[in-house]
Amino acid sequence: MKKTIRFGVIGCGLMGREFAGAAARWSQLASGIAKPEIVGVADPNPAARDWFRDNFPAVRISSEDYRDLLADPGIDAIYAAVPHLLHEKVYIDVLESGKHLLGEKPFGIDKAANDRILAAVKKHPELVVRCSSEFPYYPGCQELIRRIGADAFGKIIEVRSSFCHSSDMDPEKPVNWKRQVEKNGEYGCMGDLGIHTQHVPFRMGWTPENVFAKLTKIIRERPDGKGGRAPCLTWDNALLVSDVRGADGDLFPLVMRTMRLMPGATNSWSLEVLGLKSSARFTTDDPNAFFYTDSWGKEQAWCRVGVGYKPMIPTVTGGIFEFGFPDAILQMWAAFLLELEGREPAFGLLRPEETALSHRLQTAALLSHREGRVVSLTEI
Ligand SMILES: NC(=O)c1ccc[n+]([C@@H]2O[C@H](COP(=O)([O-])OP(=O)(O)OC[C@H]3O[C@@H](n4cnc5c(N)ncnc54)[C@H](O)[C@@H]3O)[C@@H](O)[C@H]2O)c1
Repeated sequence: MKKTIRFGVIGCGLMGREFAGAAARWSQLASGIAKPEIVGVADPNPAARDWFRDNFPAVRISSEDYRDLLADPGIDAIYAAVPHLLHEKVYIDVLESGKHLLGEKPFGIDKAANDRILAAVKKHPELVVRCSSEFPYYPGCQELIRRIGADAFGKIIEVRSSFCHSSDMDPEKPVNWKRQVEKNGEYGCMGDLGIHTQHVPFRMGWTPENVFAKLTKIIRERPDGKGGRAPCLTWDNALLVSDVRGADGDLFPLVMRTMRLMPGATNSWSLEVLGLKSSARFTTDDPNAFFYTDSWGKEQAWCRVGVGYKPMIPTVTGGIFEFGFPDAILQMWAAFLLELEGREPAFGLLRPEETALSHRLQTAALLSHREGRVVSLTEI
C-alpha cells in the first residue's frame, strides 16, 4: 500500500490544475511512490476552487485565505502556484507553518525576495523545499543528461538553452499579471521562463561566471480587458550569454534565450550541447526525437532517433508510445514525492540554492543590459 501525502494547493489557476491532473493519474507510475492527495485549496477566485471541488472528492477545505490551509494539521505539504508578487509572503508563511513546499518559479519576484525566502528555508532544514521545473523529465532530455554525465561530448564548444513562446505575438491579447512589472517583476520574460533554461546547466555544474544581456520590449501597450489600453512594461525577449568554465579549465559560452515573442513557437523548450567529440540536442517542438551527431569519416552527421516512452521514473505506459507535457509534469511530481520520502531521484527538482543562482544571474542581466557591458556574477 502506497503512503499518502496530503497536499494543499495555493493558487488554483493554470499550474494548480496541472498538478491536480498529475495527482489524478498517479496509478500510471509503476513504482511504489507515495501518492499525493489534494485535500485543501486556496484561491480568492471561487470558480477556480470549485473546479477542484467538482473533480477531487478528497478536497475538504476550500478557502479564499491560504492561511486556513497552513493552520490545518491534516495537510503535510503545499504546492504554491501564485503570481510572482506573492511568492515571498506565501512561501515564507508555508515554511513557518512547518509544511513541505513545492513553489513555482522564479521563487521570489526579485533577488531581495528570493534572499528572504532562502533565509526562511535555512531556518527549516527539516522541510523539503523545491522549485518546479518539468522539462528535464522528457526522455529526450534525460538522454542528453546521461550523455553529459558520461562525458560523451568531449571538449565543449557551446551550450544553448532556450524557452520560447509565441502567445504574445498577438498585439490584441489583453494584458494580464504576467505583463505587469508590479506583479510579474522587473525580470519580465526571464522571471517567467528563465529558470527553465537554467535547471539542467546549473545541475551539470555549468555555473555562469558573468553575463552579457540583450533585453527587448516589443509590444508596449495592450488592451486592458475593460475597453481601454494598458502599458506593457515587462521585457518581452531576453538573450543572455555567459562564460562557463568546463571540466578542462577552459571557458565556453552558455547561451540562454527566453522569448515571449518567437514566431511559431508554442511552449518550445530546447537544450543543445555542441562538443568536439559529439553534439546532441533535444527540443519539445519534436518531443519524441533525440538528435545527435555521428562521425561520417571526418564529417559530422546529425541523426534523429525516436526515443519513445522511456521516462526516468517507470510507468505502466508502453515504451513504444510517445511522451508529452502532462507526462513531464507527472514525472516532476513523482520526483518531488521521492524527495519528500527521503529518496533521491536520478535527476531532482530545482533546489532553493539553484533559484538563488538564477536570481544572481538575472539581476546581473538587468544590470548588463542597462549599462551595456559584461557583468561578473561576483558583482551581485
Ligand atoms: N512550471 C511551469 O511550466 C509554469 C507555467 C506557467 C506558470 N508557472 C508559474 O506558476 C505560478 C502561477 O502561474 P499560473 O500560470 O498558474 O497563473 P494563473 O494566473 O493561471 O493562476 C494564479 C492563481 O493564483 C490565484 N491567486 C491570486 N492571489 C492569490 C492568493 N492571495 N492566494 C491564493 N491564490 C491566489 C489567482 O486567483 C489564480 O487562480 C507563477 O509563479 C508562474 O511563474 C509555471
